[in-house]
Amino acid sequence: MAPLITIERHIIDQQRKYPNATGAFSRLLYDIALSAKIIARESMRAGLVDILGSADTENVHGEKQQKLDIFADATMFHMNDHTGQLCVMASEEQDNIITIPDQFPCGKYVLVYDPLDGSSNIDVNIGMGTIFGIHRKITEGERGALEDCLQPGHDLVAAGYVIYGTSTMLVYSTGQGVHGFTLDPSLGEFLLSHENMRIPEKPLYYSANQGNQKYWTPGVRRYVDWLQGLDAPDHEPLQARYAGSLVSDFHRNLLRGGVYFYPGDLRNPNKPNGKLRLVYEAAPLAFLAEQAGGYASDGIGNILDIKPTSLHQRVPYFIGNRNLVEQAERFIQEYDPEWLARYKPMRVTVTGKRQTATMRVQAES
Ligand code: AHG
Ligand code: MN
Ligand code: MN
Repeated sequence: MAPLITIERHIIDQQRKYPNATGAFSRLLYDIALSAKIIARESMRAGLVDILGSADTENVHGEKQQKLDIFADATMFHMNDHTGQLCVMASEEQDNIITIPDQFPCGKYVLVYDPLDGSSNIDVNIGMGTIFGIHRKITEGERGALEDCLQPGHDLVAAGYVIYGTSTMLVYSTGQGVHGFTLDPSLGEFLLSHENMRIPEKPLYYSANQGNQKYWTPGVRRYVDWLQGLDAPDHEPLQARYAGSLVSDFHRNLLRGGVYFYPGDLRNPNKPNGKLRLVYEAAPLAFLAEQAGGYASDGIGNILDIKPTSLHQRVPYFIGNRNLVEQAERFIQEYDPEWLARYKPMRVTVTGKRQTATMRVQAES
């Protein structure tokens, strides 16, 4: 029988590589894993207890919040507010940064999260997820500030997601490959099931909400034709799969190869940024994609090089096999001058910094 490797053991094994590590970073990852177990348990019971259905509140994006969103948000907060590892948090469900309550000590890490991704799927029993990213504190004060949350993805020290699907899995990376753990409900433990995940070289799927095609730019339309092999007889078509839950769509494409995209469009001339949020959706998964041999782009360049200017900033998104994502960039460059003239994110390209930031935090934590 192969030895069972729990997520705790895996984190400790990784920590051992850094003799000066204090364990603060490892404890933070445990706490996130524990939050995930609590959210998983509640999701499983969603059909049984009175937690189904919509709450009467709207979040900062004007979307109706589901009760499970609120539960997941509160769980992430309460499992991490008092531990002394974090100086500040940010969540999709909160307008502003989440400060650590005064009675608790602050640490040197920053946690950004989407507590429940794909929440429109709750009532129809389709997979959902939690996305998280961890940054290092960069501001001077004792408590964290907005600037700590507005760091580009290439300064992430770790990122991951939990998928609540046919089984619950936690997938994370600290910059040393991507590792997946499946929750064994009888043990209540995440067990290593997918070590060093790599996106397969031959992709199978493309994933996009094609119901929006009417609003797509000429470049994105041509891109879909290309994915379907319409303009290239020698190019086999990819199959279409779309769950409407970024975590589920990304997870499938990570295992099977493919591309997920949610492009910017010209529906509203002032908002050419698509739907997904940079800080706690796009950047953490981009970090994982790159660690798995893939790539994520806004249609112009690397998602990880975009400097967020606000907490809930949206970003056009293409993620998956590198060659598929780069092909989208080529079509956009060639056919979308109108869109390119309107979309101007702030970029900070720092060659080689990605690796250094991750290794530095491992060594010092
Ligand atoms: P959330 O549930 O956290 O608001 O995120 C929903 C996002 C993402 O998960 C998904 O890929 C996308 O919205 C789906 O959008 P459409 O319904 O417009 O396709
Ligand atoms: Mn989401
Ligand atoms: Mn969400």
